[in-house]
Amino acid sequence: MRHLSGLPGPIDAVLVTGDIADHGTVEEYEIARELLRFPYPTLICPGNHDSRPEFRKVLLGETSGSDAGAPVNQVLRFGGVTVALCDSSIPGRDDGYLEDETLRWLAEVLESSAGPVIVGMHHQPVPVGVPYVDDIRLNEPERLEELLRAYPQIVGVLVGHVHTAAATVFAGLPVYVAPGVASTVLLPQESSAWPPIDRTLPPGFALHVLSDDGRLTTHARVVV
Ligand SMILES: [Fe+2]
Repeated sequence: MRHLSGLPGPIDAVLVTGDIADHGTVEEYEIARELLRFPYPTLICPGNHDSRPEFRKVLLGETSGSDAGAPVNQVLRFGGVTVALCDSSIPGRDDGYLEDETLRWLAEVLESSAGPVIVGMHHQPVPVGVPYVDDIRLNEPERLEELLRAYPQIVGVLVGHVHTAAATVFAGLPVYVAPGVASTVLLPQESSAWPPIDRTLPPGFALHVLSDDGRLTTHARVVV
């Protein structure tokens, strides 16, 4: 966080694609709220380790109401670009799913966005070669694919969950997986441990550059 905040910049926005907390407690979110104070617009979405009511209360400053458990879907617009972060979490489970409400919300955002759109969520919609995380990826990704294929202004999909800097493809779009900040998950070819988690590798982040011709280019960095 210090590294990002100290960059000479400017950066348009900081996106955090989920697992803000480890156990979804208020105390964890209070720590996260302080850590995530960037000098840039910041958009965050929940992951499988998060809890919607506590996330809403502490990070979004919402007072608890009947919709405290509803998906946390958020949009950020800057310079003609739209970023839509969807809540792919399923309360109490590690795998992911986009509820009807979330897909309806995303369709409305896409309908109202003439310029380039980046779509983000926590769970990866395709297998990435790591059984440990492939078993808990996004369920029924075809629901998302159908929607994404209907909107040509989408330039890419950003996800978290996997804890490794990786690039793949979904619905004809580039998908970039954010590196882990607390640990890195390894391929079976790299580690026979279970779970295949390496806590000694440095934290990482990704810098996304959107060019005028609508291409998303991603630079992966580690913080040492
Ligand atoms: Fe996760």
